[in-house]
Amino acid sequence: MAIYNLGSVNVDYFYSLPHLVRPGETLAANDFTQGLGGKGANQSVAIAKAGGRVKHIGAMHPVDKRYFDQLEALNIDTTHLFMSETPTGHGIVMVDEVSAENQILVYPGANFAITEQMVDEGLKDATASDWALCQNETSQTEHFMKCAKAKGMKLCYSAAPFDADKTLVMLPLINMLVVNEIEAKDLERALNRPIKECGVEHILVTLGSRGVRYIGSEDEFIMPSPAVDAVDTTGAGDTFLGLFLARYDQTGDQKASLHFAVTGAAIQVTRPGTADAIPSLEEIESAL
Ligand code: RIB
Repeated sequence: MAIYNLGSVNVDYFYSLPHLVRPGETLAANDFTQGLGGKGANQSVAIAKAGGRVKHIGAMHPVDKRYFDQLEALNIDTTHLFMSETPTGHGIVMVDEVSAENQILVYPGANFAITEQMVDEGLKDATASDWALCQNETSQTEHFMKCAKAKGMKLCYSAAPFDADKTLVMLPLINMLVVNEIEAKDLERALNRPIKECGVEHILVTLGSRGVRYIGSEDEFIMPSPAVDAVDTTGAGDTFLGLFLARYDQTGDQKASLHFAVTGAAIQVTRPGTADAIPSLEEIESAL
């Protein structure tokens, strides 16, 4: 079974700071690096590292082909990662060296140049046993999910960056919703009822260093995360989701897949970077 991921591809520029920039402040960074990022690409990398089959649907500019090559080298199917004349999206990721917290500014670029036709081509071989996954960092998310639904696929939606209107459109379509605690509260405000009454079969609320809350029609529990010394939490949620979905798709074992995913995400935050910080299958298995 494959996971079709309509996902952003960004070049992430990381600035290591003594504290997060305050309004009106000019602040010198202590370090600068760059690497592959974007919520979609991070999730595809995590799926591939967990041994999942992932087909990434997206767009980027050819000048950044080395990141395309990086995705291919991980056995991610890039047949439908289109080359665009619009610059590749990028993230300005500012990381507080003391707290490991971050602020991220995103320029969508080519991620918003994805067309209906690209999505249709990307989904052409998908079948009912496959998953469709998307986030809120590309164009065509609604079209993608509606096409995937028409094919009988299982649908997972990561409602980040959060947009209440887009999320309300997705709720009747999807099988699995993934949000963090802030997004969960925003969604409850938009719905005017508790998230567990949103009508989605599987809900995952990520809780940062505390792990993840699973809310299902028959079950609700917290899967705690191992305690680690975090240096950079950027992309931890993407890592968690990619690892979880890959494992869940392979095994159907929800609790074991959640345990696997929180363990992998806990390793990822001990390293700087986003996609480059995602651990290998061997690293996660030895930590388990
Ligand atoms: O979730 C982290 C990601 O958000 C970064 O890689 C950045 O590019 C933004 O998309």
